[in-house]
Amino acid sequence: MTETLLAVEDLHTEIRTGRGPLKAVDGVSFTVGPGEMFGIVGESGSGKSVLGRTVMGLYTSGPSMTVSGRVVLNGKDVHGLTAAGRRALWRTDVGMVFQDPATALNPVKRIGRHLTEGLRGLSRAAARDRAEELLRLVGIPEPRRRLRQYPHELSGGMRQRVVIAVALAGEPSLLIADEPTTALDVTVQKQILDLLGGLQSELGTAIVLISHNLAVVAGRADRVAVMYAGRLAELAPASVLFAGPRHPYTEALLASVPRLGDPPHSPLQAIDGAPPDMAAPPPGCRYAPRCRYATAECATAAPPLVMADGRAVACHHPVQGGV
Ligand SMILES: Nc1ncnc2c1ncn2[C@@H]1O[C@H](COP(=O)(O)OP(=O)(O)O)[C@@H](O)[C@H]1O
Ligand SMILES: [Mg+2]
Repeated sequence: MTETLLAVEDLHTEIRTGRGPLKAVDGVSFTVGPGEMFGIVGESGSGKSVLGRTVMGLYTSGPSMTVSGRVVLNGKDVHGLTAAGRRALWRTDVGMVFQDPATALNPVKRIGRHLTEGLRGLSRAAARDRAEELLRLVGIPEPRRRLRQYPHELSGGMRQRVVIAVALAGEPSLLIADEPTTALDVTVQKQILDLLGGLQSELGTAIVLISHNLAVVAGRADRVAVMYAGRLAELAPASVLFAGPRHPYTEALLASVPRLGDPPHSPLQAIDGAPPDMAAPPPGCRYAPRCRYATAECATAAPPLVMADGRAVACHHPVQGGV
C-alpha cells in the first residue's frame, strides 16, 4: 500500500480508575489505506472500543484519561485539533457507527431530523432531498415516508441503516464501525455487513470494522489486526491471517469460530482462561498465562510487534505452518 488515509502511531490511552491507571490502549500502531476495509478483532475488554474512540478524537487527554502517540487522518493531526476542528473532522473526515442502534438515535427526533442536522448550508428542500438520497443509499425502502417516522417505528436493522446513513452524511473518507451488528439477529447482521461492504466498494469509503467475532470480518476485511489486552498481537492481510495464523492467540481465536463445514452441534473450542485484569496486567507477554507455547522468556519479556513477509506478529514463539 502506498497511500495512507489513517496513520495511528504508538497510541496509548490510559484511563484513570478507582483502582489505579488502566492502560486500555498500550502502544498501538497501524495504517489504513483509502477505501480499505480494516478489521480489528479481539475478545471483549481488549481495548477495541477505546482504540476506536481515541482514533476518532472522541477520547482526548483530560481529567479522566491521558492519550499519547499520534493519529493522522487525511493529513490532520487528530489530537492536535481544537474542539471546533474535531467537530469539523467528524462531519467531513470520519463517521462512527456504534454498537447499539437503540441508543444511537434520539427517540423523540424524526429520522429526517437525524439526517439533516449534519447537513450544513443546504436549503430545507435540498436537505430533504439529500436525506432521502442517503436513506436510499443504505437500502431503506420508501425513504420519503421514512423521513417522517420516529426511530421506534423502524426495525433494529432499519435503525442501524439509519445510523450508517447519518455517519455517511458528510461523505467521510473513513467510517469506524464498532460492533455494528452485535445487537442484531443473524440474518440482519449479514445484511448490514453486506451493506458496509457495498458502501466500501461503491463510495470508496475506508472502513474500520471492529468486532469480538473473527467471523464478522472474515471474507470482508482486506487486512485484520488482532488485539489482546490493549496491544496488537498480529496484523496481516486477511487471507494470510486466516490461512495461517502466527500468533497463538489468533490461532486460538480462529479455532473458536464455528466453520461452515463443521458437523452440526460440534462443540465450540473456547479459549482457556480469561483475559487479564487491565489494571494489573501480567509482565512480559500478556497472553503468556493462557498460551500453550509459553516459555520462561514469555513471562518476563514483552515481545515486540515484528514485521516479516508483509505481516506483523508480537510473539517469541510464533506458530509455524500455513502460509
Ligand atoms: N470509561 C471507562 N472507565 C474505566 N475503564 C474503562 C472505561 N472504558 C473502558 N474501560 C476499560 O478498558 C478496557 C478496554 O475496554 P473496551 O475498549 O471497551 O474493550 P472492547 O471494546 O475490546 O470490549 C476494559 O478493561 C474496560 O473495562
Ligand atoms: Mg467494545
